[in-house]
Amino acid sequence: MEAVRDVLNRPLRDLRISLTDRCNFRCRYCMPREIFGPGYAFLPAEEILTAEEILRTVGILQDLGVRKVRLTGGEPLLRRDILTIVEGLSKLGLDEIALTTNGALLPRLATALKEKGLTRVTVSLDALDDETFRKINGVGYPVKKVLEAIEAADGAGLRPVKINAVIQRGVNEHAILDLAGYFRHTPHIVRFIEYMDVGTTNGWKPEDVVSAREIFEIIHQRWPLEPLPPRRPGEVARRFRYRDGAGEIGLIASVTQPFCRGCNRLRLSADGQLFLCLFASKGFPLKSLLRKGASDDEIREALRRLWQARDDRYSELRSLMPKMTRPEMHYLGG
Ligand code: GTP
Ligand code: 5AD
Ligand code: SF4
Ligand code: SF4
Repeated sequence: MEAVRDVLNRPLRDLRISLTDRCNFRCRYCMPREIFGPGYAFLPAEEILTAEEILRTVGILQDLGVRKVRLTGGEPLLRRDILTIVEGLSKLGLDEIALTTNGALLPRLATALKEKGLTRVTVSLDALDDETFRKINGVGYPVKKVLEAIEAADGAGLRPVKINAVIQRGVNEHAILDLAGYFRHTPHIVRFIEYMDVGTTNGWKPEDVVSAREIFEIIHQRWPLEPLPPRRPGEVARRFRYRDGAGEIGLIASVTQPFCRGCNRLRLSADGQLFLCLFASKGFPLKSLLRKGASDDEIREALRRLWQARDDRYSELRSLMPKMTRPEMHYLGG
């Protein structure tokens, strides 16, 4: 079956589903405590897509080309029906079902997730020293527990575990060599991510970005690297391996070397809106279609038209774009 293509001839392939806008962490760059405090109004339960609605949507989107699903959030493992969702997805015959998590609930869930059909996990970890990491995650969560979560995922067969580290100038540059060093000689793959201007609450400034080029140089000087070819078209991370055979890393240069040209990702928010870009100011109200009794055919055709009209490429146009309202990362997913 042919995938539907957008205005820039990009096929639809990946679907990223935010399962909840809640999180048990308060990372400064994503859900700063001052804003996401006890009084913050998260989405009410009835606004959130049910497992059934999610599975129906994925089934329809498969007809339009979706092969890979990534579950994100907020923190996706906070969903009480997470195992039901993964089980349902695995029955659909996708190529891959991945999940991005902060790891806190992973030791408890890793084996069950694997049994239900999850393929892989990506664990966020922005520093290897407690002082920095506790500050970044905003809830004083210790590094040791995230490292245990990574081993739990690996032990359950959710391999290879990827580790996402967002690097911010003046905050965690020292984590580059710490993390690279720690995960050398392991099968886990650390990916260093340029800090992006997502959402409107994190006070992002261009000076805060540590470029992938700089990150490369820092690692390469210590442990020489060489590039690896992309695994799939539209991959966000540039892959490198250590020349001495100590494993692989990834660099995600969303700011300095945007990858919109190959962007095959559609995003579904927890409250059932479809976003054509991480930076789109408005979503398509899928939930209202689902809930007003539209047939699969009607929905499929509406979504086909939606993708066919897509011309988003925010990161390539970043400097030309006005500062408009943008969805928050905890709502739309990373
Ligand atoms: P795998 O290939 O399955 O490992 O996943 P991935 O490479 O897509 O990685 P992941 O989903 O963990 O995304 C890593 C980071 O890349 C995210 O946290 C974002 O910071 C960034 N990212 C992912 N997709 C996009 C995108 O479409 N646009 C932009 N600008 N950034 C993205
Ligand atoms: N820039 C880059 N990556 C981000 N993430 C969250 N906010 C940002 C940002 N501003 C990443 C997290 C996590 C994933 C869900 O998204 O680190 O790995
Ligand atoms: Fe939670 Fe991830 Fe956002 Fe941190 S980055 S607050 S772990 S959703
Ligand atoms: Fe895709 Fe938008 Fe990210 Fe570009 S900025 S890669 S179009 S999600």
